Amino acid sequence: MAPELKVTIPELLRMKRSRSKITMLTAYDYSMARAIDQAGIELILVGDSLGMVVLGYDSTTAVTMEEMLHHARAVRRGVTRSLVIGDMPFLSFHVSLRDTVKNAGRFLQDAGCDAVKIEWKPGIEDVAKAIVDAGIPVMGHVGLTPQTAAGQGGFRVQGRDAESALRIHTQAVALQEMGCFAVVLECVPDVLAKEITERLTIPTIGIGAGPHCDGQVLVSYDLLGLYEAFTPKFVRRYASMAETIRESVTAFRDDVRQGFFPGREQTFTMPPEEMSRLQQELGPA
Ligand code: KIV
Repeated sequence: MAPELKVTIPELLRMKRSRSKITMLTAYDYSMARAIDQAGIELILVGDSLGMVVLGYDSTTAVTMEEMLHHARAVRRGVTRSLVIGDMPFLSFHVSLRDTVKNAGRFLQDAGCDAVKIEWKPGIEDVAKAIVDAGIPVMGHVGLTPQTAAGQGGFRVQGRDAESALRIHTQAVALQEMGCFAVVLECVPDVLAKEITERLTIPTIGIGAGPHCDGQVLVSYDLLGLYEAFTPKFVRRYASMAETIRESVTAFRDDVRQGFFPGREQTFTMPPEEMSRLQQELGPA
């Protein structure tokens, strides 16, 4: 059984130092968040992947602050132990520092999140520092950054040559220096993730970054086989829930059509004397 104590940032740093692996999953609603929390996952990310896997957009850039906050509030209500991180959507940060801090603050004040995540963009260091200075814990995100993936040549592995690998390393170090408490490494070669993990004092959380990171994150809808439009190479599917849903609702449809649902167990009855009184009152049909 998972311990009941709320996960804290010092605890994550202790886990890195003691080489205990950190786990993180995305969640977008109360019931899923509750199950993930109860399973003992340390970090729950209300990811802007919401846009694609739940809202059906083509990319994450369409997701708004209001949509993120709506789902973050639902997640928060389902969580007692995991640290909840709100993913700052496209154009909610790096606009002006004032709006950035205000938007980051809404994840904590309006939605009850514990921290926010920002994807790396040129000049993000000042943004990260402004949010941290306002007292809001920040997780960074380098490597493949889906909000600006078009400029990175699409959804492809980053840092495969020494020059770009060095750039990603520099970005991760800069985010640590600006006070980030952890950094996501997305779609980078395992050796680069290993080098970064060994050189940073804050935890690295990998997604498509090999086994050497301090922790691992997946989009829960990928892990559960709920989002079938596209499955990246780095995903391991632990269930086929979309298939389970199709089978279950087909069985429901057939039961209804054949008169097998609802059965006696799903039906409310009336005492016989009340039934005959009712029939007397109503008269013949
Ligand atoms: O939005 C998201 O789900 C993410 C993870 C892929 C880290 O940013």
